[in-house]
Amino acid sequence: MTDLLVVLGVLAAAAAGLWAWRRYHPVSFWYGVAFPARAVVVYLTWHHVASGCKLTRNRRRFRLTLDAIPVVGPASRSAATVVEHKRRVRRVDVERAPRLGILRPTRLGWRMRLRLHDGQVPADYEKAAEGIAHAWRVHSVRVVDVRPGYVTLWATMRDPLVDVITEPETGELLTVRPGKLENGRDWVIDFRTVPHWLNAGATQSGKSNLANALIKGLAPQPVALVGFDLKGGVEFTPYAPRLSALATTRKESVDLLADLVGEVENRMATCRAHGARNVWTLPEMLRPVPVVVLVDEVAELFLMADRSEKEEVSKTATALLRVAQLGRAFAVHLIVCGQRIGSDLGPGVTALRAQLSGRVCHRVNDPETANMTLGDLDPAALDAARAIAAETPGVCIVAGQDGSWHRARSVFVPEREAEQAARDYAHLTPDWETLVGSVPVIDPAA
Ligand SMILES: Nc1ncnc2c1ncn2[C@@H]1O[C@H](COP(=O)(O)OP(=O)(O)OP(=O)(O)O)[C@@H](O)[C@H]1O
Ligand SMILES: [Mg+2]
Repeated sequence: MTDLLVVLGVLAAAAAGLWAWRRYHPVSFWYGVAFPARAVVVYLTWHHVASGCKLTRNRRRFRLTLDAIPVVGPASRSAATVVEHKRRVRRVDVERAPRLGILRPTRLGWRMRLRLHDGQVPADYEKAAEGIAHAWRVHSVRVVDVRPGYVTLWATMRDPLVDVITEPETGELLTVRPGKLENGRDWVIDFRTVPHWLNAGATQSGKSNLANALIKGLAPQPVALVGFDLKGGVEFTPYAPRLSALATTRKESVDLLADLVGEVENRMATCRAHGARNVWTLPEMLRPVPVVVLVDEVAELFLMADRSEKEEVSKTATALLRVAQLGRAFAVHLIVCGQRIGSDLGPGVTALRAQLSGRVCHRVNDPETANMTLGDLDPAALDAARAIAAETPGVCIVAGQDGSWHRARSVFVPEREAEQAARDYAHLTPDWETLVGSVPVIDPAA
């Protein structure tokens, strides 16, 4: 009896210890206890799960079998049936699951490499991913890497995008951390790697919140921020202290875009004179301040009330396209937000979209917008974009220019926080007239 009490006491203490470990140090608990236990379950159930998800293949194998053979002869006349057991080599069909490599833990789940059966393609695993996730009771399973003959699956235990906590400022020039990726890592936008971005989504999907996060992250940096807000300026006017220029009407937009094109041409002339291919290879003292241009609701720039506006719209479209085409090498970056950005807006929009190599697709109302935004990415990215729920504003699919995509969510940045950042760093705002009025620096010796 005392022994039993001691055993029960030890078990209770162990359970309490594990509970406390999990509660107070979840990361080490995951790596030390939960992941190894999960790995055992995954290895033990993989064959069964792969069979249920139709990933197995039948292979012919030679097997040694022990066969029962009825003995014919005098013995068979007796009441009991007499059988003799004989060993035989037989060809049998054996169900084989794809070979599972070593499971590698990640902060929120694990990665695992699988060897494809002959005739299988990664799309078979994309189709099966949801079934695998249900079988292992995890939040999601995704194909993240494809090598000839192999795929890497990545299982996530819980959705890290439910509560996003991060600080947009990174301390690195032109780099912002606007939220988190589904793999638990930071979502980082680096304009020097991906110079222009398209931020699309239905109304109330989180486009302006992402713009707020970018303003908060860029405000403390030595950059000039420029806004186009044709919704009467209601979105960007509160950030005016940190904006070097803001256009709220079509007329202002035409003038501001002309300034921007002029500025890009100035920078180009300076680079040419110094034999530099882009502003980053210029001597530091000649390097111009980077400009980040935010366009809220791009459709407003292209809308025509009557034919008299046709010329203005066409000027706007051409100038915006020039800024996009030439700006990348000269540190003039674009973030274009819109509910749709398709050819229905007018000529030039498709060409502009092609220049915006970074893509963010929030919840959309029609599959066509997801197609337009994510282009010809993996069809799984389009499915993921269409599956974004209205209850989770800020969740989006992010694609860079390398073709990889992620589910992500921006950190919630209310207007007053972005306004505060704009006021706090107002002293860093470069004066627009000085910026665009400066003549190109041409070294006569060059
Ligand atoms: N990342 C986020 N986390 C939590 N809530 C968010 C997030 N992003 C947006 N929201 C919520 O969703 C609301 C709508 O977001 P937002 O204004 O950015 O949408 P929008 O796409 O700009 O819409 P519209 O096209 O009407 O301007 C916000 O007021 C905010 O409450
Ligand atoms: Mg908005």
